[in-house]
Amino acid sequence: MQQAGFKILNDIIWYKRNAPPNLSCRYFTHSTEIILWAAKNTKSRHCFNYRLMKEINHGKQMRNVWEMSSPAAEEKKFGKHPTQKPVELLKRIIAASTQNGDLVIDPFCGSSTTGVAALLLNRKYIGIDLETDYMKLSASRLKNPGPGK
Ligand SMILES: C[S@@+](CC[C@H](N)C(=O)[O-])C[C@H]1O[C@@H](n2cnc3c(N)ncnc32)[C@H](O)[C@@H]1O
Repeated sequence: MQQAGFKILNDIIWYKRNAPPNLSCRYFTHSTEIILWAAKNTKSRHCFNYRLMKEINHGKQMRNVWEMSSPAAEEKKFGKHPTQKPVELLKRIIAASTQNGDLVIDPFCGSSTTGVAALLLNRKYIGIDLETDYMKLSASRLKNPGPGK
């Protein structure tokens, strides 16, 4: 990403508290994923909702290790995507780095967890995926994003 001109702002570790066990018992159990937060280039201004992040972290500065569970069964009621992310994770990402009414684009959207989170937070959304089945799954989820929508 740096070679393409992006400025890395943070790396964030998602720690999956309910990661499935390692069946071979020959390695450590994989229980993290890395999120790279980047700005378009070294001169671009980025949005960081510092106060909101501190508020939801009980008054302490939000750190770059986020402990969250894998998606609940409820989030897969319209069908499954093999690498589906939890809505809670995408809500944190969008709430931290965008404003009400902003447009969020996910060019590798899968089941559109990004879109569900965007709609729940009053953002606009465009999702793109190569697979027709994932676009159909996305459409079902986006028509029923959740409580209040
Ligand atoms: C890691 S998954 C995204 C999962 C998503 N965050 C979710 O919660 O469901 C990446 C998606 O990118 C799609 N994909 C891969 N290469 C692509 C490309 N060149 N253009 C558009 N979509 C692509 C795959 O079909 C896959 O659904």
